[in-house]
Amino acid sequence: MKKIFLAAAAALALTTGANAAEEVHIPKETWTFNGVLGHFDKQQIQRGFQVYKDVCANCHSLKYVAFRHLGALGYSEAQIRSLAATYQVDDGPNDEGDMFKRPGRASDHIPKPYANDALARAGNGGALPPDLSLITKAREGGPDYIYHLLIGYEDAPAGVEMSPGLNYNKYFPGHQIAMTKQITDGVVTYADGAPNDAAHVAKDVTAFLHWAAEPNLEARHATGLRVVLYALIFAVLAFFAKRRLWKDIPH
Ligand code: HEC
Repeated sequence: MKKIFLAAAAALALTTGANAAEEVHIPKETWTFNGVLGHFDKQQIQRGFQVYKDVCANCHSLKYVAFRHLGALGYSEAQIRSLAATYQVDDGPNDEGDMFKRPGRASDHIPKPYANDALARAGNGGALPPDLSLITKAREGGPDYIYHLLIGYEDAPAGVEMSPGLNYNKYFPGHQIAMTKQITDGVVTYADGAPNDAAHVAKDVTAFLHWAAEPNLEARHATGLRVVLYALIFAVLAFFAKRRLWKDIPH
């Protein structure tokens, strides 16, 4: 019995030891969408969309986002229509049975950069750039992780053997990532004149990706608040009702 117990304890120590070595501490960031009153800063999300469009969209798709969804960021219908029209999207088959390309419409989804995963891998040294629609929810650490990943490129520490074609990143699990550093100071210039150093750009694009992953966050927060208010009012009413009902009963 004692042996089994010792073995179990040793196994536990081993696994937790391994986890501790793997675990990277991801610092917490301040986001406008955190907390019960959290909301999206539309200006920031628009800037983040610009970063996605100008930088990330070269490799990453955003398959659940249609142009018309961008209306939630404060773009007018005309702006969305003309943005969509700058893309060529696949359509068809036509009467001859052929697929064809036509300018995008507001109802189209943002076209993906590669026709299929094999092409995407071929263009990225064998690694697949994941779709970014739900990425802030799909990764442990959420937006904090994505933000730090984007600015977490460093020289590999002495003694760390890097595989060819991979880049050292402090926050990527295993520290070797196929994506090269994408965000540098001034990689985009914002129309609203907001700061465009790497940290701000990374923050903006992460906020945009979080909007893409959870477009209903504000509505959810508002509903939560209404439910809490309702429960509070109900509790107060119940309290006075109870006092009234029990008033004449000695206890
Ligand atoms: C030149 C192509 C390219 C561009 C441009 C690019 N990426 Fe990537 N990205 C990749 C590849 C390839 C991977 C897969 C890396 C791997 O698995 O090692 C990746 C992986 C990722 C991941 C997943 C990391 C994880 O935990 O698995 C995120 C998040 C990401 N990219 C965000 C971005 C953002 C945001 C931008 C724009 C600022 C961007 N990428 C621009 C190629 C690119």
